[in-house]
Amino acid sequence: MIDLRSDTVTQPTEGMRAAIAAAVVGDEQKREDPTVNALEERGAVLLGQEAAVYLPTATMANQIALRLHCEPGDELLGEENCHVFISELGGPAVHSGVVTRGLPGVAGRFTPEQVRAAYRVPAVHSPRTRILWVENTHNASGGRVWPPEEIDELRALCDELDLRFHLDGARLLNAAVASGVDAAAIGRRFDTVTLCLSKGLGCPLGALLAGPAEAMARARRFKHLFGGAMRQAGIVAAAGVYALDHHVERLADDHARAKRLARGLTEAGLAVDPDRVETNFVQVDVAPLSHAEAIALLLEQGVALSPTIHPGILRAVTHLDVTDDDVDAAIEAIPRALRARVEA
Ligand SMILES: Cc1ncc(COP(=O)(O)O)c(C=O)c1O
Repeated sequence: MIDLRSDTVTQPTEGMRAAIAAAVVGDEQKREDPTVNALEERGAVLLGQEAAVYLPTATMANQIALRLHCEPGDELLGEENCHVFISELGGPAVHSGVVTRGLPGVAGRFTPEQVRAAYRVPAVHSPRTRILWVENTHNASGGRVWPPEEIDELRALCDELDLRFHLDGARLLNAAVASGVDAAAIGRRFDTVTLCLSKGLGCPLGALLAGPAEAMARARRFKHLFGGAMRQAGIVAAAGVYALDHHVERLADDHARAKRLARGLTEAGLAVDPDRVETNFVQVDVAPLSHAEAIALLLEQGVALSPTIHPGILRAVTHLDVTDDDVDAAIEAIPRALRARVEA
């Protein structure tokens, strides 16, 4: 089976397993785990921030960021299909009492004018517009990348309107590699940054939240409160250190394979737009088939894709465990599975 459902399906490599086996560990809650401490120090530099906190998931990192920046009744502005709105179970309301307002996006991006229009002038009756949220790369739009100049404009607007500015950079390193801009140069434009280690970087689990030292000291308290403080977590943090050493530059290979897959599918007559492939996601239009019908046909041909929030659109994601041969095989198998039904 060629598993293109997500970059979260990767298995730890042999090198990563060796690093895990050799990890020196301690009690992470007491800050006595040298491997976690090393990963956090490295993560802060990587993300252009003063400090970082190691967490089990990117969802927890996002939710702690909101809790850090907001009071109950505050309002979060972000693109309407960003992960924190559609895939974190209403966490902003549940964990932080935050109301959300989605801005319609193009390729996952919105403009300063949209933010200005949505911003609520402080008034006794209004929720306080408190935080602006950017997702880079943007998952639901197909792994699209934010240009740094647009982020600069939003940073200036946040300063003007006194808004906090968070980056859900679960796949920030994909964005950095794709745009040739250093992750730190992107990350330092924000007040806080989430990075996931278990997507393209190939770790079994783990994420980092980075920000100012004072904010990260408070984040450690929320980490306990949310049940994310661990013990000998260096056993998995070692995978994170290994991934930062070995799995960053190679993201370019995933991007090249996604592009090749998109071109191959287009040449085979499928409705795929290679120009929209900026990182490791390919969106495949399977209409008039339903998600379930198309996925079943693809599985029969040995390829697994996943549904998206868009009707008739499936997602193929390249990752550490997808080889050039897999891409060639997928370029054969996907049209074989879909053509008869789509053309019928
Ligand atoms: C943009 C984005 N943010 C956050 C997350 C949450 O990651 P995790 O599964 O580590 O909680 C995801 C997961 O797909 C994501 O795509």
